[in-house]
Amino acid sequence: MGVTGGIAAYKSVEIASRLKKLGANVKVIMTQSATEFVTPKTFQEITKNPVAVEMFANITDFDENHIALANFADVVLIAPATANFLAKVAHGIADDLLTTTILATPAQMIFAPAMNTVMWENVATQDNLKILLRRDIKIIEPATGNLACGTIGKGRLPEPEKICAEVVKFFNATQSDDEDFQSVVTVSSSFGEILTVREETEKLHGKKILVTAGGTVEPIDPVRYIGNRSSGRMGYEIAEAARLQGADVILISAKSELPAPKNVKFIKIETAEEMRTAVLNEFDTVDAVIMSAAVSDYRVKNVAAQKIKKSAETLTLELVKNPDILKELGQLKKSQVLIGFAAETENLLEYAQKKLAEKNLEMIVANNVTEEGAGFAVATNIATLIYRNGKIENFPKMTKAELAEKIIARVAEFF
Ligand code: CTP
Repeated sequence: MGVTGGIAAYKSVEIASRLKKLGANVKVIMTQSATEFVTPKTFQEITKNPVAVEMFANITDFDENHIALANFADVVLIAPATANFLAKVAHGIADDLLTTTILATPAQMIFAPAMNTVMWENVATQDNLKILLRRDIKIIEPATGNLACGTIGKGRLPEPEKICAEVVKFFNATQSDDEDFQSVVTVSSSFGEILTVREETEKLHGKKILVTAGGTVEPIDPVRYIGNRSSGRMGYEIAEAARLQGADVILISAKSELPAPKNVKFIKIETAEEMRTAVLNEFDTVDAVIMSAAVSDYRVKNVAAQKIKKSAETLTLELVKNPDILKELGQLKKSQVLIGFAAETENLLEYAQKKLAEKNLEMIVANNVTEEGAGFAVATNIATLIYRNGKIENFPKMTKAELAEKIIARVAEFF
């Protein structure tokens, strides 16, 4: 367990205590600034293990090698994780014992960030979080409430039960062969309580969500294609947000430069027709579909078998209409919740409402892609959510990760 220097460090004492009661062997590394809030002695008493702080201090119980702790743990939990700590890990900086250990450990990492709301929302912090998530570091979202700085907002360290539940969840998910730990958590009376906390805090626990993302690619000949500007980022963020809320996620992705997210069923396709087949294969088993992919409305009628050579001054390609996947789902749907996207350049509400009705959707996420800070290839978006019952919800400019979280929160309300 790593403890960094935030006011929430006092809660780490309870976390260490609960983990210890669950039968875990807990060794604590504190950053220098964490010791301003809690003393190493407190953790030493609780864990019955020496507590490490300074990189080159005389760490008696451990190997001489300063990264010995890196190989000790099955899980490295950092609570609280400050913005500064997240930034350092995101960029591979190892300038104290904790960050050095992190860089050297093969263990699963779980970070519980806590900081003031403005720092949490800062684009630098959000970008760092994205880097960490891509490395499959588990991030426990901060809670919203009264903060030490006197404001109310997101940034509180979640309650110790919730954090311990995430640790237990990791061991359950991996079906650890560490029988000692398994048997201890199974017999522990706190275990049921922890699982309940987990299920209550995950809004999509037990739900299966299909997300599409990226831009489809329609071949012209073996080397050229018709594509679009979609980066896939919005859909990948939605898949991640759904996963963080406990859903079983299937991500069907057309062209995108983003790496495949971990812990989701990932299906890569290229054309609209391939996307249709992949979506229909999964449709019966899912509870919701979020179609954020930019699907090409047309494809080339006769794809050339060989590379087209330049000859005439003009070249005409005949295009035929692609299937409208979402419309088809709207006709087929039984109880599934369907969410569409409408990327428009004019008449945003009117066009989006028309799509919502025509495609038989529960909700559509509309955005004007010509607005600054919205649309393709930017990290932010400005969206309006339009519901079947006519309700309209306007969101200000926010990161795609934040918007994804909002969309997933709304999706959860349909169940
Ligand atoms: N969509 C789809 N299949 C298509 C085209 C679009 O499933 N062939 C989905 C998109 O993923 C999106 C929604 O339908 O969720 C709206 O897509 P959009 O292209 O904006 O709307 P269209 O109905 O194609 O209308 P237009 O291109 O005329 O704006």
